[in-house]
Amino acid sequence: MKTIINPGNPINGTLPHQSQLDLPGDKSLSHRAALFAALATGESKIENFQVSGVTRPLLNALKQLGVEWYLNGNRLIVEGRGLEGLHPPVGPVNCGNSATTLRLLAGALAAAGIPVVLDGSPGLRRRPMERIVLPLQRMGVPITAAPGGGAPLTLTERAADYSLHNIQYTLPVASAQVKSCLLLAALSAEGTSTLFEPGPSRNHTENMLCNMGVEVTNRQLKDPSGTIYATRLTPPAAPLQPLRFSIPGDISAAAFLIVAALITPGSQLTLNGVGLNATRTGLLDVLQKMGADLQVTVLTNKGGEPAGRITVHHSPLQAAEVNGPLVVRMIDEFPIFAVAAAFAQGTTVVREAKELRLKESDRITAICQELSHIGVDIQETPDGFLIHGGVCPRGGEVDAHGDHRLAMSLVVAGLACQEPVTVHGAEMTAESFPDFIPVLQALGSKIHTEL
Ligand code: S3P
Repeated sequence: MKTIINPGNPINGTLPHQSQLDLPGDKSLSHRAALFAALATGESKIENFQVSGVTRPLLNALKQLGVEWYLNGNRLIVEGRGLEGLHPPVGPVNCGNSATTLRLLAGALAAAGIPVVLDGSPGLRRRPMERIVLPLQRMGVPITAAPGGGAPLTLTERAADYSLHNIQYTLPVASAQVKSCLLLAALSAEGTSTLFEPGPSRNHTENMLCNMGVEVTNRQLKDPSGTIYATRLTPPAAPLQPLRFSIPGDISAAAFLIVAALITPGSQLTLNGVGLNATRTGLLDVLQKMGADLQVTVLTNKGGEPAGRITVHHSPLQAAEVNGPLVVRMIDEFPIFAVAAAFAQGTTVVREAKELRLKESDRITAICQELSHIGVDIQETPDGFLIHGGVCPRGGEVDAHGDHRLAMSLVVAGLACQEPVTVHGAEMTAESFPDFIPVLQALGSKIHTEL
């Protein structure tokens, strides 16, 4: 499918929009809420659940594990079965393109002692899984990866009286998916587990498990090499309590609209009900440093998850440097950050972001290739990129590399180029923001698709 974006139209308005269009609920919170609700005892009610390409595989997997759930619009009701109540699935579980689904399920099913094969799309099979397999094996989980170290992962049956060991483990790279996988496995280990990370990865698992009655804490420790982030979990004596939770809007989806407003002259946008957890707001901080006219107001804080309003106006931007803990706090935002940087005066430098090579695409190479196709002066480095920005890109034809965030970033770039941009593969937006194009159209963008 070809998506053609005609530049030169500002975006104006407020979300939720009068047409009922809105941001999707947060993807990370949606994955956790559905899975953790299944592990609880009793009925959970989750509002504003993200119904999308990456959450469907998790919902299907839960059905395979014997969990009943009902979806009414964006309200998800889950009949929790408790860790002991899950059934071994018939056949492999297909996690689609969702690494979060695969990694979190691996931890939960390790805790439950369920034999399973966890598989996914060819793209997901390329993602690295040793990062969970090795520590899970250290905990005594009978799990193996495919020969290249990726999916399918095979978890075999273990004796009913065999308990997992607790773990003290340092993650080589900050990762909420790895941390969450190990925290879920640690729910049924003998004794307290502690995980150490070199950066502040998102803490939604900790917040949600805390709300469900688990003793889990985050602490920052200083050591000669800098700050270390420690997470400690003690297995609960009682069953997990069910959830009553309304998921805030996805800040990582909001990011595309925020940058669209910043780079398109005449734009003005207000987003309500956006998740503002500080482990996710790195992009907002760096855009403000770049001179963005961007106001962020926290209005609620339920279950440790702040949420509120973001107001943004078109702004001239200055280049920025991004490295260190900030990389972790905006790990999903680099494709759209690169678009903002292309419109910022000066040279933007991204370093210490090698992890981007292991996302839905090699995001360093893919961003550099595609932005250079529309005339952005961008240079790839081993762990990031340099952008000499401030010249309005020409426009042209680009490809989404099968990556939803690259697809949305390229569409946004097209709103402010000199000539139209044609994006191949923009249907990938359905993975995490199914209404992305209709939302942009409702706000004033001129976008159409051709088969
Ligand atoms: C996620 C964590 C991040 C992020 C992904 C969702 C999560 O991955 O890129 O989109 O929900 O835990 P890593 O923590 O592995 O970097």
